[in-house]
Amino acid sequence: MNLKEIIKEEILKNGKITFKRFMQLALYHPQYGYYSKAPAIGKKGDFYTSVSVGSIFGKALSMAIKAMLEFSGSNAILEIGAGDGTLAKDILERFDASSVKYIILEKSPKFIKIQKENLRQFQNISWINDLDEITDFEGVIFSNEVFDALPVHIVEKREHKLFEIYVGLDDKCNFIEVLGEPSTPEILEYFEKLKINLPSNFRTEVNLEGVRLIKELGKRLKTGFIMTIDYGYPSRELYQPYRSRGTLMCYYRHKATDNPYENVGNQDITSHVNFSALAIYGKEAGLDVCGFTNQANFLIDSGILDIAKDINDILKLKTLIVPEHGMGETFKVLIQSKGVGKVKLSCLKNAPKRPSYEL
Ligand SMILES: C[S@@+](CC[C@H](N)C(=O)[O-])C[C@H]1O[C@@H](n2cnc3c(N)ncnc32)[C@H](O)[C@@H]1O
Repeated sequence: MNLKEIIKEEILKNGKITFKRFMQLALYHPQYGYYSKAPAIGKKGDFYTSVSVGSIFGKALSMAIKAMLEFSGSNAILEIGAGDGTLAKDILERFDASSVKYIILEKSPKFIKIQKENLRQFQNISWINDLDEITDFEGVIFSNEVFDALPVHIVEKREHKLFEIYVGLDDKCNFIEVLGEPSTPEILEYFEKLKINLPSNFRTEVNLEGVRLIKELGKRLKTGFIMTIDYGYPSRELYQPYRSRGTLMCYYRHKATDNPYENVGNQDITSHVNFSALAIYGKEAGLDVCGFTNQANFLIDSGILDIAKDINDILKLKTLIVPEHGMGETFKVLIQSKGVGKVKLSCLKNAPKRPSYEL
């Protein structure tokens, strides 16, 4: 049985499922889910991340992390969702072996295996299976392109009423989208908390898993920083009329489509992160916003221009920071902190100055 059939069987048995459940199975079904199979990331895979552009990204990140560790008075780094471990390697190579303790929280057992293989030269690294293994964490927690890969609810405002998108089957047993009542009150609470009244005929995603993750991380952080790198926007940009069909995108062999119902289990499905939500829900877990900026500003302020050595590096820089080349502007960096007081991080030197929760 393939994943499409498994999902169809669930719908035939129990009735329509939320889009979130569909995405959960498509990406994380233990056997056939896209991420459970540990897809190649980069040229041979379906999409590039900043990490696959080259090691200068990790090198720049390590400079920012070093400064944050100093403010935290700790040497512990926790990476969430480490893919094939390349970023961890690029970062660890910039630290003396004894000077940091690196921990990875990864969901996919296959990726864990690949990470262990690719990072075997480092002694100062360990893995955890669950955030429950962490309490009173001191140090730096970070992720790159993880929140966008979490399963999302999709909602649509019709006239004045908010509906949720469910996935059902037509007479020929093809997937179809069906409107229904929101599956959980948390969806309405989300928009209330964000003070967002969606316009009519507007579709968007609600990343409650992201909300849960930032709250969990905030709760477990005692002193230090949480750095989230991903593509996305604050609310004021995300709910503009030109995004009225939402931000869901699928990637299959470097081709982007908006159809999650094809290549099920073999393509990536992502949605843009609402960074305002991470700031607002993070605050409930005691997190202050240190700054929010785009990847270009962040990398330049972290010293990436000094790291680039040759023409190869300069070409990579172009991809990472020049707006027309994609990653510099679309990718954002949110840094939140707890227990460190008011600090000035040099990686946020050119971050826009805004009242903290407006981002
Ligand atoms: C798009 S990949 C990014 C990999 C890597 N950070 C990079 O930039 O190349 C997403 C990663 O997050 C992992 N992941 C997804 N959900 C997770 C969760 N709830 N906890 C930990 N890891 C998760 C995936 O298995 C995968 O390793």
